[in-house]
Amino acid sequence: MQNLISSQPRNLGKEMQIGPLGYGCWRLVAMSAADAQARIETALTAGMNLIDTADVYGLDWGGSAFGEAEALLGEVLRKAPHLRSQMILASKGGIIPGIPYDSANLIGACDASLTRLGVEQLDLYQIHRPDLLTHPAETARQLEALKSSGKVREFGISNHTPSQVEALAAHLPFALVSHQPEYSALTLAPMFNGVFDQCMANNLCVLAWSPLAGGRLADTTHLSDTLAGVMAEICERENTDLATLSLAFCLAHPSNPVAIVGSTTPARISAATQALDVTLTRQDVYDIIQASQGVALP
Ligand SMILES: NC(=O)c1ccc[n+]([C@@H]2O[C@H](COP(=O)([O-])OP(=O)(O)OC[C@H]3O[C@@H](n4cnc5c(N)ncnc54)[C@H](OP(=O)(O)O)[C@@H]3O)[C@@H](O)[C@H]2O)c1
Repeated sequence: MQNLISSQPRNLGKEMQIGPLGYGCWRLVAMSAADAQARIETALTAGMNLIDTADVYGLDWGGSAFGEAEALLGEVLRKAPHLRSQMILASKGGIIPGIPYDSANLIGACDASLTRLGVEQLDLYQIHRPDLLTHPAETARQLEALKSSGKVREFGISNHTPSQVEALAAHLPFALVSHQPEYSALTLAPMFNGVFDQCMANNLCVLAWSPLAGGRLADTTHLSDTLAGVMAEICERENTDLATLSLAFCLAHPSNPVAIVGSTTPARISAATQALDVTLTRQDVYDIIQASQGVALP
């Protein structure tokens, strides 16, 4: 029985490697620095060395301000500076609430992120969403300046179409290293819209956001009876639960995605590693895809 899940580290560009599970800081807001540090340490101990945040985190989920999640992570790093070298630190910019996007000032956005985080360099900087009104040559110029100043090691994109990625790449003198799309057993789009194909063609590391569909894949309430039934059968065979199986599903694509864990509950963060012990066959993954879509593949 061939297992489609690889628990090997993923390459992020040529010089960095990250674990198959990463940790996301979207919901790491409205708590003390000590509590945030405990969650970051739990994630790092569990092998989630990619720590993913964004300047806008804090505004829309449980927080109260743009920059709140970065500022809290910055407080953690100031109190426990040894953690910096244990992580591949990733942030994002380009969403300007109310506008809503501006990729013509990524230099300013990244500088502000560095200040909030209290670090001199980001390992990965991602364009959070495509700015429809900035020419990709201008976006590329911003990224080039960030690279040559040493403020960012590598760059990625998030929520872009393959043609938007291609247009940006055409103006860059270096390769993009990652794409962060939404992907889960309830959100299969990157499998079909060319995003995963482009990642595999160009060695972009896939960073899957909301692998539990924001919690909807933690219990059967939001699932169709068909999907709930298929997943329950696999859970029973693998002696696991729905959340763990859902993370495992994200890992079982040939692009070898990294699933970005978003829980703020230490026990759940640790438990996420059980996804690496699940075996998923071609049949299992096709069963989940077809049950999720509600129709058989042709
Ligand atoms: N690029 C983008 O546009 C974008 C957008 C959204 C997110 N992201 C990234 O993706 C990361 C993950 O997203 P996400 O937070 O939506 O991830 P997720 O893993 O899909 O959802 C996490 C949520 O599920 C809840 N949950 C309920 N039962 C759970 C269980 N058994 N195990 C684990 N969690 C359970 C968690 O609650 P508790 O906290 O109470 O455990 C938490 O609220 C973010 O932190 C961010 O870094 C990126």
